[in-house]
Amino acid sequence: MAKSDWYKEMAVYQIWPRSFCDGNGDGIGDLWGVLEKLDYIKSLNVDAIWFSPLFPSPNADYGYDISDYMDIHPDYGNLEVFRQVLDGAHARGMRVFMDLVVNHTSDEHRWFVESRKSKDNPYHDYYFWRKGRLTRRGRRLPPNNWSSIFEGGAWEYDAKLDEYYLHVFAKKQPDLNMANPRVRDEVKNILRFWLDMGVDGFREDVITFIAKDEGLPNSYPVLPVANGVNHYANRPKAHEYLKEFKREVLDFYDCFTVGESPMTSPEVALSYIAEGENKVLDEMIAFSHMEADCFMLDMIQLPFNLVKMKKAFSEWQYKLHGKAWNALYIENHDHPRIISRYGSEEYRTESGKMLAAMYILQRGTPFVYQGQEIGMLNINLPELGMYKDVMAENNIDIATRFLPRSTAMKLLARSSRDNARTPFQWDDSRNAGFTTGTPWFFVNENYREINAAQQEEDPNSLLNFYRAILKFRKESPVAIWGDYKEYFPKDKNFYVYERSYEGKRLLVICSFTRKALRFDAPEGFDLGAGRLVFANYESNFFIMNGFTSRPYEMRVYLFE
Ligand code: NOJ
Repeated sequence: MAKSDWYKEMAVYQIWPRSFCDGNGDGIGDLWGVLEKLDYIKSLNVDAIWFSPLFPSPNADYGYDISDYMDIHPDYGNLEVFRQVLDGAHARGMRVFMDLVVNHTSDEHRWFVESRKSKDNPYHDYYFWRKGRLTRRGRRLPPNNWSSIFEGGAWEYDAKLDEYYLHVFAKKQPDLNMANPRVRDEVKNILRFWLDMGVDGFREDVITFIAKDEGLPNSYPVLPVANGVNHYANRPKAHEYLKEFKREVLDFYDCFTVGESPMTSPEVALSYIAEGENKVLDEMIAFSHMEADCFMLDMIQLPFNLVKMKKAFSEWQYKLHGKAWNALYIENHDHPRIISRYGSEEYRTESGKMLAAMYILQRGTPFVYQGQEIGMLNINLPELGMYKDVMAENNIDIATRFLPRSTAMKLLARSSRDNARTPFQWDDSRNAGFTTGTPWFFVNENYREINAAQQEEDPNSLLNFYRAILKFRKESPVAIWGDYKEYFPKDKNFYVYERSYEGKRLLVICSFTRKALRFDAPEGFDLGAGRLVFANYESNFFIMNGFTSRPYEMRVYLFE
């Protein structure tokens, strides 16, 4: 069944439910809160909502450890209120996507509870249970040398079974054995369950990890984190499994899929998303552009390198062109806030607008993460005990092997995922209007200056800028369909690119510095002939086809 291309024109808003809006006063964001905010979401000019996991979960990894795939976490509501949200979104012309987390479950999921009862339990083979190895001296070792991404080794011993289970993430997130056809049937049932209810698609969590190499071999050289990844990232079987899900389920619905793909190059991404009979997903969530101020993990920090960021964006733009469609994002629940990273807290509104234009006007589907549109900033928690994220402790363990604890704590404060998980700042009342109860997590104290209500009133606010630029993109074929071409790729201060379509051209100019620098328009552009459609300063002169930039200045010219 042919699928339509609506996803190419849409923009998506991501909700991390625990921190969005509390509707019942228990201090935790929920679906009643979302119901109250549907008009707000619609007002952003987005076309869809992606919910980070809403399912029952013991929250070892805040919802990414699911204990029941076919229900709603009581903290967030129930299936009835979910249906109301779904209907409310649909009535406003917005689609709804769920998070599909099937690389692993929670250890409290019924399948896992059963699987550890005995070796002949029908669920035993739903997971990777393996015998340990013995050293010559008889010491017990795990089945291989893999390390997890969140918590030390990748294997956990169960004394009763005298076996280990595999967990690529936290101990409470045992990996599912996708090679087992019964597990794949379960996944298909989950997909059907939500699609039949009216959900419009899925963001598929670490979907590139779902196939493990047979025999689970040792991995070399040994890395402190994610050792073994070469044996479970982008293995050929992953395509096979995804093809099966598509052929047997997804093809029967007009739905959208975007896969999360850490450590995946655009070439490899194309093997999943390129148009043609091997296409198994619509889009891929890239990571390389989020590594311009760090190395692989956010914790290993480096000075921000604009050339590296531009190279990453441009690579995906060029390599996917004409073959596949990009997913565009600069924030989500897994990364610190972007203004605190790539922009400037001092020039919050200016750099926030510049960053928004920089990625939203590229070719692809823009995703906006809750709070990004009002310029929420990092919270920079000072003590380990204040963190909620399972990664925090592990990162500190690893970092303190090489660094003094005080340095490690500073790195954590800047890099933690918790920076993006503080409650949404709705207004300047107590708890930022997020809850009438006691918030489950710290509210950033800057909520009196940074909040949605205040920005509603201000026509020049970041919030209203997001609305305007998303509206512009929606209505402007050159912004949706235009070819992408980068100028001055080696320039360390400006990111400049063009989009062109049917004789129209957009020129996007973004300064990533507070320095006043001369900018000269690329050849072939006469600024005087263009219409300035977006800028983050008033009065935009140009002299001799260029200008001297103000801090984090952005200008977008349209030539038609
Ligand atoms: C990716 C999710 O985005 C992240 O939040 C989670 O911790 C891991 N996958 C494990 O599910």
